[in-house]
Amino acid sequence: MKNDQPTILIIIGISGDLSKRKLLPAIGEIAKTGMIPSQFKIVGVTRQSNISLENLLKHTINKDYLLKNTELFEMNLEKEEDYEKLGNRLGEIEKEFGSSSQYLFYLSVPPNTSKSIIEFLGKGGLARRDNTKLLLEKPFGIDLESATQLVDHIDKYFKREQIYRIDHYLAKETAQNIIIFREGNSLFKKTWNKDFIEKIEITVSEEIGIEGRSNFYEQTGALRDLIQSHLLQLLALTLMDIPKEGHLEEVPHLRYEALRQIRIPSIPSLITYVKRGQYKGYREEVNNLDSMTETFASIDLESTDPKWQGVKINLTTGKALKDKFTEIKILYKKDNDHESNELLLRLQPDEGISFSVWAKRPGYEHQVSRHALNFSFKDHYTALPEAYEQVLFNAINGDHSLFSTSEEVVETWRILDELQKIWATSAYDLIIYKKGSTIEEIIS
Ligand code: BG6
Repeated sequence: MKNDQPTILIIIGISGDLSKRKLLPAIGEIAKTGMIPSQFKIVGVTRQSNISLENLLKHTINKDYLLKNTELFEMNLEKEEDYEKLGNRLGEIEKEFGSSSQYLFYLSVPPNTSKSIIEFLGKGGLARRDNTKLLLEKPFGIDLESATQLVDHIDKYFKREQIYRIDHYLAKETAQNIIIFREGNSLFKKTWNKDFIEKIEITVSEEIGIEGRSNFYEQTGALRDLIQSHLLQLLALTLMDIPKEGHLEEVPHLRYEALRQIRIPSIPSLITYVKRGQYKGYREEVNNLDSMTETFASIDLESTDPKWQGVKINLTTGKALKDKFTEIKILYKKDNDHESNELLLRLQPDEGISFSVWAKRPGYEHQVSRHALNFSFKDHYTALPEAYEQVLFNAINGDHSLFSTSEEVVETWRILDELQKIWATSAYDLIIYKKGSTIEEIIS
């Protein structure tokens, strides 16, 4: 159901890549379906005076709608008076709408600038106003300490229910399907525990490298960029308890409860549980010949939750690998001599689900073969919605279920804290791999 409250979406950093590639097209799509509030305006904040809306919207669909409902607002994000002017302009728009409007501040800016913007919004009186929401992009800190400080900082100006922390993986259609699949299929629901499951492997394999994001990536690496956020969130969705029917609002807390019980098995022999690598040519690309930043990470984890004790868990991600895919593989236990079954939740590409079964091979001899029962979304539906459409739709509608909470963010950093400290001291275990390698080639 759509929320029809008049809405102003303030994109701070409208000329940035995220806004051009994801946010504006997403709004165009939502508007096309008629699910956007009837009174809706985008205020695109920018420091640049020479940008044109036409240019920003070059590649978006529904351009006419966006042109009609977007305006640019030039300001200096370091100047308090400019926030006052912004506040005044928002007030004028609200008057034009003729009724009280919700403000959504979307911070699409480099991470080092968001702290001061939050403070200016807070001090300028824009935060505590009723009906104001703050949408934040990762990274949420770089380690446990900085994440905790960031949470405290934001808490000074915004109430927790005003904050929407985006992890676009949570909003992928196929990630949302994890709960539906677990809930809706009693065979899997009943066997979703340590008694039946041997191992859970979650993999995000990327063909692309760092795509020119040298500064960002040098300070980030695979562990912070993908494991701390997307992969741990997918794991939380896999391990968490299922919410009561129709109560998706419980999901963030349930994910948090699952995360609280996850840890890296045993720090003294860490090397057995974690692997890191860097693709050849990375150092030249970032212009730092001593760089120890990992572009590949694979870590084993365990859960102390009695339902999951003893189940092996692995999270793996890497850039410049042979294939692009994201999947959750559930390996079931063998029963006596019979072979095990495997469930594959494919998040991208070819979104869908497959399950391996053993069947008799036709013939006089009793031989068996493994075959897959397969479901592909593309065989039944046209293109799946982009994650950012869902993110914006849910934020407009005040639905928190697909956003990560402060508690979750702190927990994910807690899981990785000791590992990060150890990795910071030496990189003797860094594996240098050829671009286009498979995961097996790197870790074997
Ligand atoms: C981002 C990371 O959060 O997710 C990128 O910063 C990564 O490094 C991207 O490439 C992957 O997202 P997707 O949706 O393309 O799988």
